[in-house]
Amino acid sequence: MNSKGIKHMSIIMDGNGRWAELRGEPRSMGHIAGIKSVKQAIEASIVNNVEYLSLYAFSEENWSRPQEEVDKLMSLMLSSIGKEREELNNQGIRFRVLGNRSRLSLELNNAIDDLMQFTEDNTKLHLIIMLSYSGKWDILQAAKALAQDYKLNKISEEEFNQISLSSFEDYLVTRDVPDPDIILRTASEQRLSNYFLWQASYSELIFIDTLWPDFTKEDYDKALKIFSKRERRFGKV
Ligand code: FPP
Repeated sequence: MNSKGIKHMSIIMDGNGRWAELRGEPRSMGHIAGIKSVKQAIEASIVNNVEYLSLYAFSEENWSRPQEEVDKLMSLMLSSIGKEREELNNQGIRFRVLGNRSRLSLELNNAIDDLMQFTEDNTKLHLIIMLSYSGKWDILQAAKALAQDYKLNKISEEEFNQISLSSFEDYLVTRDVPDPDIILRTASEQRLSNYFLWQASYSELIFIDTLWPDFTKEDYDKALKIFSKRERRFGKV
């Protein structure tokens, strides 16, 4: 935790398509340009001692985009993982991907596993890429896993009856990640778009106009400043 009380910054990276269209370029150029903004967000997290940075890179709904765009995004993911391997490790970053990984290709899953293992002992920053993720999917897979454990007698009748909010959270993909203090969304839209539906219960929501490829450390600092003026009561008075 840093002096500003922020442990986890989460970002809905939006506006890549619009950024590209404004330049008369294909949408995939916006995604490519978005990589340098990811680097800006990583650097700003480290400078500000924010321990967790999660990025909504691809939702379960994004699978319905044109196949060409989906393929380009997945190959961008794959090439970035290869290119940034050493740099991420040198910066002490622990890399993880959370989401419905059963929908990813074997090649991408292998590359993800490799980088997750390579960086698993790093502690400077937890970088979490939310890929093929959606909030409703997360809650549903948690409920299914819980039912399965009950069916297989992995949890007793008594444990089942005593399921609490915190024991249910152990089934979410974010089980060992603190809830986000800030959810920052770029590109002017003001909605969660099926992101951290469970985890966002007390997150401060911050919306800025900057399109993701134009995002810089200054935008990150702006969000921290907005957060510092908010009063968080967590339902208390
Ligand atoms: C939303 O913009 C952005 C995405 C769906 C993809 C975000 C992915 C990246 C920036 C690449 C990340 C890569 C790594 C390695 C983390 P949009 O296409 O919905 O924009 P629009 O609303 O203007 O159409």
